[in-house]
Amino acid sequence: MTKRVSIEDYRRAAHRRLPRMVFDYVEGGAERERGLDRNVDGFERWQFRPRRLVDVQDRKPATTLWGREHKLPVYLSPTGLNGLSRPGGDAMLARAAARAGIPFALSTASNMSLEEVARASDGEKWFQLYVLSRELAEVLVKRAQAAQYDALILTVDAHVNGYRERDMRNGFALPVRYTPRTVLDGTLHPRWSMDFLRTGVPKLENFETMEAKSPEAQAALLRRQMDAGFDWDALAWLRDLWPGKLMVKGILRRDDAEACARLGVDAVIVSNHGGRQLDGNVTAVDQVAEICGAVDIPVLFDGGIRRGTDVIKGLCLGASMAGLGRAALYGLAAEGEAGVSGCIDILRDEIDRAMALLGAPDIASLGPDLLDG
Ligand SMILES: Cc1cc2nc3c(=O)[nH]c(=O)nc-3n(C[C@H](O)[C@H](O)[C@H](O)COP(=O)(O)O)c2cc1C
Repeated sequence: MTKRVSIEDYRRAAHRRLPRMVFDYVEGGAERERGLDRNVDGFERWQFRPRRLVDVQDRKPATTLWGREHKLPVYLSPTGLNGLSRPGGDAMLARAAARAGIPFALSTASNMSLEEVARASDGEKWFQLYVLSRELAEVLVKRAQAAQYDALILTVDAHVNGYRERDMRNGFALPVRYTPRTVLDGTLHPRWSMDFLRTGVPKLENFETMEAKSPEAQAALLRRQMDAGFDWDALAWLRDLWPGKLMVKGILRRDDAEACARLGVDAVIVSNHGGRQLDGNVTAVDQVAEICGAVDIPVLFDGGIRRGTDVIKGLCLGASMAGLGRAALYGLAAEGEAGVSGCIDILRDEIDRAMALLGAPDIASLGPDLLDG
């Protein structure tokens, strides 16, 4: 096997291994996918202005969030239905993150229960909450607390589903519908199909013991039919319910970030959901500097990160950490847990090399002076 040296190499391997319907679910975005493309290309807006003759023999890519140290300034963003890429995918991602010393975020729409994932990894774990109803949210939050998740992420940009044309054309649904096309798709990807036949259709395991086990509730979750009435008062309710660190994901404006800070939220995640929700949203990294200037709480961001230099650019603009969505999923689909580790290793190398070439021996020395644009 040729050595994979970039996230793009893993993307190609994921494309070969996954049936088209599953690859398109991971890869696709909303409508014309302009937002998706801009996320990836958006980093080109800035070029580096390196500092010369700085002693960079001893480089430290470690960072701290709320006083806790992480070995890299990246975390694995929450992604639903990881079991479609690999059976047991949630635990694979959690373990690979723990081994690398970075946080892992588990989606509400995971294919392993939050308790099972908590048992599988002793690394830092965050639980991402989708609010289908206040009652279900309360149960999930209490379970995440009992399972000792280190932080809660409330996602606020997916109360209705993005218009994902690839998924609609492919008839993407759970349980998978057997049509001549999906059967042919599976036959053309035998290694994935063997796993699938061996382990069965992945379920939304967090709901297996709950009221939401009903097919209607599961379908609502898959269509992201959330509580569209969830507003700032509801956020105040959630703040009271969860005593630990609370983040709000999907923020793209400074006034919303300021309102989060006023309500006692501990960090905001600037994100357009990987271009999967409203096509035409601004690119997250473009908003980072303004939002960082407006609030005193940490600002994290995600979207389109495929290179260590993308991470570095976001940090130069003021972000505390960068989230990996598809970059980790390509590794998961291509090689399972080893592939996730392979992707994190590539990004670690790229971050380290960029820090050396920029004259920035540690994360604290990254700043806007290193960017032009
Ligand atoms: C396949 C897939 C599933 C996702 N599922 C969720 C989810 O369940 N909850 C959530 O908050 N974000 C979800 N996201 C969005 C990611 O957390 C993140 O914002 C996005 O992937 C970042 O963009 P990137 O993939 O270009 O890195 C998902 C993204 C992908 C690609």
